[in-house]
Amino acid sequence: MSSASGAASASRINTVVIPVAGRGTRLLPATKAIRKELLPVGRKPLLLYAVEEAIASGAEHIIFVTAPNDRSVSQYFSRDLELEGYLKRRGRSEEAAALERLCTSACFTFVPQEFPRGLADAILCARKETAGKPFGVILPDALILSQHPCIGQLASCYLRHGGPVIATRIIERHEAPGYGVLVIDPSGPGSDLGVVRVRSMVEKPRPECAPSLYGIFGRYILDPGIFDAIERLRTDASEELQLTDALNLYCQTNPVFGYIFEGEHFDTGSWLGYSKAVLECMLADDEIGPTLSQYFGTGRHN
Ligand code: G1P
Repeated sequence: MSSASGAASASRINTVVIPVAGRGTRLLPATKAIRKELLPVGRKPLLLYAVEEAIASGAEHIIFVTAPNDRSVSQYFSRDLELEGYLKRRGRSEEAAALERLCTSACFTFVPQEFPRGLADAILCARKETAGKPFGVILPDALILSQHPCIGQLASCYLRHGGPVIATRIIERHEAPGYGVLVIDPSGPGSDLGVVRVRSMVEKPRPECAPSLYGIFGRYILDPGIFDAIERLRTDASEELQLTDALNLYCQTNPVFGYIFEGEHFDTGSWLGYSKAVLECMLADDEIGPTLSQYFGTGRHN
């Protein structure tokens, strides 16, 4: 991989786990034969944003937790020498080099999740590969665009405070059923802006039951102690093991922090969030953005 920048190495977490085993049923029929993480957002598949975020934060090892028998993610991150040769023969060497970089910029590992038993179970599948070290988790459908990559923001916080860190920000009360929600300890590390101490948390509460408005936003730095907490869990009503429940157990005996991250967040797991992300990325595209913006500003929709 290319050498990490000073900023990235100062906030380094070497390994990032990216779960990609979900069924993506909210985006059917588009996701019947294509994984939702491989749907394009702008010029890139959604998953590439997560991978680039991890690498820009200093990660060298990326572990994908995949659905059993799914080869599409490993295929995407494997070199295609035939395609690279084809591009080179036609004078498109830069594009060929970019495709090569895509597949060699980190060490990619793929571990299957045999049954769709929830996020905590997916993380448990990566236990051996994380080799007893702290690691990041990126949920790719929570797309976060930021100058300073979100998982790197959390990694810096982890290095300062030394406990698991959860990306958080304030949500609207009516949004609570779509998020895990944190209960904050008001006597937390107040001097360090952006960091809050977590007392407990609950997964997707009804609006009237939400214990706070600090939502959980799909980025975590975890340490190996989380695996024991996951093993102590029981499945919830939908027969899944929730990472929120594992972290809730864990924070009863260990410090856990929330980090109020910077960046623009899109929930690409819904059509509205996905459409906003696509438009945002296309409008920011140097080549077609200006024309597209003109089209929406003055085009036939008016
Ligand atoms: C997961 C987590 C949830 C979190 C959400 C947002 O839920 O379980 O706590 O708030 O991601 O990223 P999912 O959206 O995968 O159902």
